[in-house]
Amino acid sequence: MCGIVGYIGNNVKENLIKGLEKLEYRGYDSAGMVISNNNEFIVEKAVGEVEKLKKKLNDKDYTGLGIAHTRWATHGEISINNCHPHFSSDGNVALVHNGIIENFENLKSYLEKNEKYFYGQTDSEVIAKMFDGELSLNKIKDVIDKLKGAYALAIISKKNDEIFFAKNKSPLYVAKGDDCFYVASDPSVFSERCQEFYSIEDGEYGCISVQGIEIYNKEGKINEKIAKEIDFDFTTSNKEQYNHFMLKEINESNKVLENIIAFYEKEEAFENLKSFDVKKYNRIYLVGCGTAYHAGLIGEKYFKERLNIDCFTRKASEFIYQNDIINENSLCIFISQSGETADTISALEYVKNFNATTLSLVNVTYSTLASKSDYVLNICAGQEKAVASTKAYLAQCLVLLILAKYFIKEDFLSVLKDFQFDYGNDDLIIPLAKHLHNHEKIFFIGRGFDYITALEASLKLKEISYIFSCAECSGELKHGSLALIDNGLPVIVIANDESCFAKTLNNAYEVKSRGGELILFSSIDIDKEIENNFKYIIPINKCKDDLMPIQTIISLQKLAYYVAVERNLNPDKPRNLAKSVTVE
Ligand code: F6R
Repeated sequence: MCGIVGYIGNNVKENLIKGLEKLEYRGYDSAGMVISNNNEFIVEKAVGEVEKLKKKLNDKDYTGLGIAHTRWATHGEISINNCHPHFSSDGNVALVHNGIIENFENLKSYLEKNEKYFYGQTDSEVIAKMFDGELSLNKIKDVIDKLKGAYALAIISKKNDEIFFAKNKSPLYVAKGDDCFYVASDPSVFSERCQEFYSIEDGEYGCISVQGIEIYNKEGKINEKIAKEIDFDFTTSNKEQYNHFMLKEINESNKVLENIIAFYEKEEAFENLKSFDVKKYNRIYLVGCGTAYHAGLIGEKYFKERLNIDCFTRKASEFIYQNDIINENSLCIFISQSGETADTISALEYVKNFNATTLSLVNVTYSTLASKSDYVLNICAGQEKAVASTKAYLAQCLVLLILAKYFIKEDFLSVLKDFQFDYGNDDLIIPLAKHLHNHEKIFFIGRGFDYITALEASLKLKEISYIFSCAECSGELKHGSLALIDNGLPVIVIANDESCFAKTLNNAYEVKSRGGELILFSSIDIDKEIENNFKYIIPINKCKDDLMPIQTIISLQKLAYYVAVERNLNPDKPRNLAKSVTVE
């Protein structure tokens, strides 16, 4: 994934660090920067978060230019050698890269035969080694013509006064402020100092300097692009009274609901769907990754209950291997908080080959996914900073519910207007988290909507607590997974559906007879006899069926959060993960 930033202006160091702090959601394995000063490079690198790099810097700052990088490791261990920026063999050119170069091994062996020495294992260093001596637009074009794969590049040399850039598949933006220039993976980096920006398209390259911005197209011709106004809200949220963003964001669930109501009650909210006729479609695909995929599964249920159209939810990374029937009568709905998830973007590009209609649900409306879709809906979750998605999941589910109702012209807001989510009972959830935090494995089971909640609860727990967990349909246990149950293994039973409660209970008792320890999350009233089978019971507030999975996940998100805290982990920045997953 990684985030890159290039800056020209005063206080280069300070502004590069500020940029990296904004980009840290893209990876925090290592961070580095290089500043060009009096024909020399000033380089600083650190393994770990941007804070570590910041601590290594002295107070001296510079006017001029520099580039910086925050890394999410793809090729090569997390080490100083693999930390960007990377350098050409003669040390004159420095480069930062976001993306993956697919043909890097071929390029590397060719370069090695030509006596280039490699100090690390990254694909990015291979690009750096393709430069030596003078840096120019022709040289950039020559190099990118040889690259296969995804890249957003910022490149400087000791002698040039420009920052060169190039892009394919990984996001890249350039901007000019009153007294500064930027190139960055995300406009949030420069939103406070620039009023407009250019979105760099695949195959484009160019340079920024105090003279201005030059952008060239694939054919090497200058591209007079129209600047876009920065009209997005980039206000960076802070933790307020909370220790972590994750808990703050869970506790913003009702604020998200309010935002969604305020947005969708405006007539113009569906302006771009005015010409849209859902009856034209005979198949709907809902596509996303991880949590967004789970929101898709919830959406599938909302759609199937209302529309007489086949609906299928697909994991974006698997979509192209399913041989699904996709044509001009297919509506493909892509769900992505960031709108930059590479697997989801690739899935969208795939369905375009079959003339399917594309509709995206995003939290970032200027994102790549949004810009490539026929229709876009804003999930209005507000900035989500914790890596684990919580309020955005809730928002995705709610907007899918609104969309399902909108399609059949059902009143879609009145139910939501009278509703408030309950934030669960911490006095019960925290003791449960204390009990679970030393376990090595945890199971989640459920049926129907509750199974989807089990999937999402399990993902949340494993990603931030590193406890091995998995979710199973209650009825499927006896077909294999029951073999894993042994003495004291916690099994969290999610049961809100009265119609299948008895069956789910039977499955739970099958677990108990084999030594498993039962924990219940349920909105159903139970008698003492049932109660006695469960070591812990977390009651969930009853609400309308459609909202039940959203109401339930809040307590389970909190459980994951408190388990991580009990284990002394930082739930906001789980190891090995990043907020925006821009590689396939
Ligand atoms: C899990 C989580 C991830 C994301 C997934 C897709 O808590 O956050 O599973 O849901 O990486 O990300 P987006 O929604 O940005 O496409």
